[in-house]
Amino acid sequence: MEPKVFASHFMMAPMAGVTDEPFRARLRRWGCRALWTEMVSAAALVRKHKKTHQMAAPGDLGNDTAIQLFGANPDELLPAAEILTALGWLRIDFNMGCPVKKVTKSGAGAALLGDLSLAAKCIKAVRDGSGGIFTVKIRSGVTSSQLNYLEAGKMAEGEGADGVVLHARTRAQGYSGFADWSQIDALAGTLGIPVAGNGDIDSAKTALDRLSGHPVAAVMIGRAALASPWIFRDVELMFQGGAPLGRPSIQELSADLSRHFAELVEFKGERGAVGEIKKFVAWAIKGVQGGSVARAEVMQIKEADAMCEFIASLAAFDPREGGGS
Ligand SMILES: Cc1cc2nc3c(=O)[nH]c(=O)nc-3n(C[C@H](O)[C@H](O)[C@H](O)COP(=O)(O)O)c2cc1C
Repeated sequence: MEPKVFASHFMMAPMAGVTDEPFRARLRRWGCRALWTEMVSAAALVRKHKKTHQMAAPGDLGNDTAIQLFGANPDELLPAAEILTALGWLRIDFNMGCPVKKVTKSGAGAALLGDLSLAAKCIKAVRDGSGGIFTVKIRSGVTSSQLNYLEAGKMAEGEGADGVVLHARTRAQGYSGFADWSQIDALAGTLGIPVAGNGDIDSAKTALDRLSGHPVAAVMIGRAALASPWIFRDVELMFQGGAPLGRPSIQELSADLSRHFAELVEFKGERGAVGEIKKFVAWAIKGVQGGSVARAEVMQIKEADAMCEFIASLAAFDPREGGGS
């Protein structure tokens, strides 16, 4: 049976600058059935910031995607959640995990873990403005000596959250060290609402092991899906008792990237698409023979036609792994 609060047992993580509509479409083609948008600013939504409204446009709206809000002002979060609900979003998530300075300096993201009374007001505001499923994504605490994920999770539940995602690192850790999945166990054992676990899932097998070995409703995959979006196809295959298919052929990858690029051009225009696809090409060809030369080459491309040709030419690459990258 599908979990209700989380659209699938295996979810793509929200990633700023990455999980836009074209990448979400690509992830769906690779079998992903639960997605998160990039985080969108409540203040910018309320102020009708054009780029933020483009990020929040429900182009691929479906019951498989949650939109993530960030902010630290309940007076902005409530109308922002109402805007998203009016746009048709059925799943809204609140970001209490982002450690990036640009976000925390305004008191938002993981900074809210240092002020749970303000966080409670923010959560209530987003809950009140949401019409559907409402979740909160947190970290373990501010520092390792201030672990308060249990308190934060209980508070979120008390304020009406339907589920909590825990990235089991502290704000101070950023992305260093390891995610501590025993914290995820403790949170899932404490809350009455579903908990999803996140942090360091590096393969389809790890995703499956985490789901079966921990009392979570779902697991969330981030960085591993950037270079290997087919992790979702493989984990679904394994979940059904089958064998994973592994890395696709370089020809398949080239076709996959061509389609991703065409959709980015539609979404962002040629200039924006050329800039954005570069990191996806670099991730995709990591480990492929001649990959380092190709990566340097792709970074120099400025025109959409040249990018199309380059991506098509990848099909002729030697698919052996390891050499030259
Ligand atoms: C480039 C990048 C952008 C991210 N953007 C967001 C974001 O917008 N919202 C959020 O909650 N987490 C964000 N994260 C954190 C991820 O959602 C996830 O919690 C983290 O990468 C740990 O999962 P992983 O070990 O599977 O990568 C971001 C991470 C990265 C690397």
